[in-house]
Amino acid sequence: MRLLIVALLVLSALRSHASASDATLQPGDSDRGRQIVLTRDKGDCVICHAMPLPGRESHGTIGPPLDGVGARYNANDLRARVSDPKAFNSESIMPAYVRVTGLHRVLKSYRGKPILTAQELEDVVAYLLTLKEPPPASAAPTPALTTETNPRSGYDFLSPENQQLQNDEFANPGMLWAEKGRALWNAIDGPAKKSCASCHHEAAHRMRGVRARYPQFDPRRKKLISLEQRINQCRAIRMRTRPYPHESEALLALTTFVGLPSRGMPVNVRVDGPARPFFEAGREFFFRRRGQLDLACAQCHENNAGQRLRGEVVSQGQSNGFPIYRHLWQTLGSVQRMFQWCNTAVLAEPLPYGADEYVNLELYLAWRGQGLPVETPAVRR
Ligand code: HEC
Ligand code: HEC
Ligand code: HEC
Repeated sequence: MRLLIVALLVLSALRSHASASDATLQPGDSDRGRQIVLTRDKGDCVICHAMPLPGRESHGTIGPPLDGVGARYNANDLRARVSDPKAFNSESIMPAYVRVTGLHRVLKSYRGKPILTAQELEDVVAYLLTLKEPPPASAAPTPALTTETNPRSGYDFLSPENQQLQNDEFANPGMLWAEKGRALWNAIDGPAKKSCASCHHEAAHRMRGVRARYPQFDPRRKKLISLEQRINQCRAIRMRTRPYPHESEALLALTTFVGLPSRGMPVNVRVDGPARPFFEAGREFFFRRRGQLDLACAQCHENNAGQRLRGEVVSQGQSNGFPIYRHLWQTLGSVQRMFQWCNTAVLAEPLPYGADEYVNLELYLAWRGQGLPVETPAVRR
């Protein structure tokens, strides 16, 4: 079966290659090409490259400005650079626009389909050939903000309005979940007729510092346990009742409430001893390329933190704020919801909530931001 799929992929790749020299292929049209580089689900080149097109100030800065490429390269060079940039730089962050093989966990609906058709590639090349003028002097490169030099919370990348919203405990929308969490903390549930408070009493005192040291190794499971899973473990074992579903309002509310007393405390996870192999697996996940866009977490959040991805400045992808209230979602979300979002953004199949791979990734991310203050519940764009 797998062989058959590979054979089909190769065949379809050959076919799209063959059609590039097909007589039906029309000469590139630079107006259509100009449209493609601006279109979100097509080229969307301006997400990474500034070009002499409207809205230049919100074009990305991850790649160099494309002004002047039409003077530096001929049509063949440009075709090759857009079809498969990794042929020139194996570490390139630029997606291969025509290649469909050698990719990891591509979203099902995108498998085997190149982002640009042969005709669209011709159109883009025709447009690029019109770019003869060098970039304006204002397009100087922005330095990257890697975690090695300085871990920075997502808070530092927010507008002053959003920072204020996060700081103000009456206005911060995440506090609504914390309030619901307080009610659940005190509510008796299950045949053991216990509430969280029956055993743990005051969360402000007993849960202080807990959020800062999760995930951690759990001898019972012989693997890592996230804070959400820890809460559910108490429900199952101590209260003998059913666990809350991942991403349910109840679990988000209790996670926020349990995290609140750690606000301002430094993230401090253990990655030695039995946690080590899980930490290593999380690190590997972070550097693994995936999806149709063939991008690793590190390529956005490590190598390009501080750069503009379209209008948005990319942060270091730190986890000290979760659960976060995200304006884009108009609700609270866990760090694993963010993982699914970032996976899907590169057209990769996300993993299910609670997957071991995601918990390992949580530990690696927490360690990257070791020492950053817990901001639960943070506000993000
Ligand atoms: C995810 C970011 C990203 C996207 C999206 C992207 N590029 Fe790139 N591109 C880069 C980077 C980074 C480079 C610098 C060379 C390298 O690292 O491969 C580059 C290099 C280039 C170059 C060579 C420039 C030079 O001066 O040598 C061309 C041409 C180019 N890209 C065209 C495009 C076109 C056309 C699109 C859209 C169809 C596109 N790129 C989309 C990141 C991107
Ligand atoms: C194509 C670039 C890109 C890739 C690849 C990517 N992300 Fe993101 N990520 C974003 C953007 C954009 C945001 C929202 C703005 C921001 O915080 O940078 C974001 C936000 C985040 C945040 C929230 C940060 C905060 O302060 O709340 C985390 C955590 C995160 N990403 C983790 C990951 C992980 C883990 C991976 C790999 C599985 C990954 N990202 C891959 C672009 C990316
Ligand atoms: C019957 C008593 C009991 C109940 C009820 C209970 N827990 Fe626990 N909980 C414990 C004990 C004992 C531990 C520590 C020992 C262990 O299980 O590992 C613990 C540990 C925890 C921890 C980890 C603390 C740490 O320092 O790592 C969290 C978080 C937690 N409980 C949350 C909750 C929440 C939330 C509820 C309600 C949904 C709850 N617990 C209900 C007894 C209980």
